[in-house]
Amino acid sequence: MSAEPTALVVGGLRAGYGSMEAVAGIDLEVRSGESVSVVGRNGAGKTTCLLAIAGVRHGRNGGTVRLGTRDLSKASPPAVVEAGLSHVPEGHRIFRHLDVRENLLVGSYVRRRDGQAKVRAAMDRVFDLFPILKTYEHRNAGFLSGGEQQMVAIGQALMSEPRILMLDEPTSGLSIMVTRTILEALDRLRDDGVGILMVDQSVQRALEHTSRCYVMEQGQIAMSGPSAELAKDERVFAIVRGTDEAGTGARSLAGGEPAASG
Ligand SMILES: Nc1ncnc2c1ncn2[C@@H]1O[C@H](COP(=O)(O)OP(=O)(O)OP(=O)(O)O)[C@@H](O)[C@H]1O
Ligand SMILES: [Mg+2]
Repeated sequence: MSAEPTALVVGGLRAGYGSMEAVAGIDLEVRSGESVSVVGRNGAGKTTCLLAIAGVRHGRNGGTVRLGTRDLSKASPPAVVEAGLSHVPEGHRIFRHLDVRENLLVGSYVRRRDGQAKVRAAMDRVFDLFPILKTYEHRNAGFLSGGEQQMVAIGQALMSEPRILMLDEPTSGLSIMVTRTILEALDRLRDDGVGILMVDQSVQRALEHTSRCYVMEQGQIAMSGPSAELAKDERVFAIVRGTDEAGTGARSLAGGEPAASG
């Protein structure tokens, strides 16, 4: 699906909410054709990290985001998508009152100047990846199951033909069957050269389905490396369980909890 090899390179990324720094200087890299995961306990900053990379300005405090030769550090969310970096946020956010096809067309907005044939081809690739969506092409997305809605959300992100695809807990709350369908689709995309950056609640699943992994703790990367190696390291599981008594070098954040306001 993607053309030339490229890489998403994030440096010193900071983001937060008011005085609370949720992402406190993160460096990470994802190359095309590579599948990478981000794990960490609740509140570690995973979602904020993806949002900040996606160009959501709210709370972004600094750092660099590059995609290939493009500097996206100050780019708006649509400009980030246009550059080839798509984000599937948590909770399959789709347009419930639009049908499947219309939902997918929304995703092709940044490619609207490329012409109908390209849009059609992108849609055919989505239907090839998730054949059930072809069956439901003219059905309101609100009537689909949670898993099918997640397929629509991923399909929508794919309509812009991303070189790098970020997903926040793409299989959260879904059945084993649907989870498998989605993970297999991500594998196919990776094999087609798309870079995948996936947040997953399940460390086990993340390490099984990606080749590299970043372990987040209190807004920082506490550990990273090949998934096969991290899978053998008990510290990874301790960090994610929140029983990291030995410490990992990630500093605690001053004001790590949102300030109580009257
Ligand atoms: N809109 C917001 N306003 C204020 N604080 C927020 C907001 N969103 C997140 N936070 C706080 O920022 C920190 C990081 O949250 P974030 O959602 O990025 O974590 P996460 O790793 O994705 O957690 P989870 O595993 O629960 O999804 C948490 O302390 C959280 O309470
Ligand atoms: Mg989250």
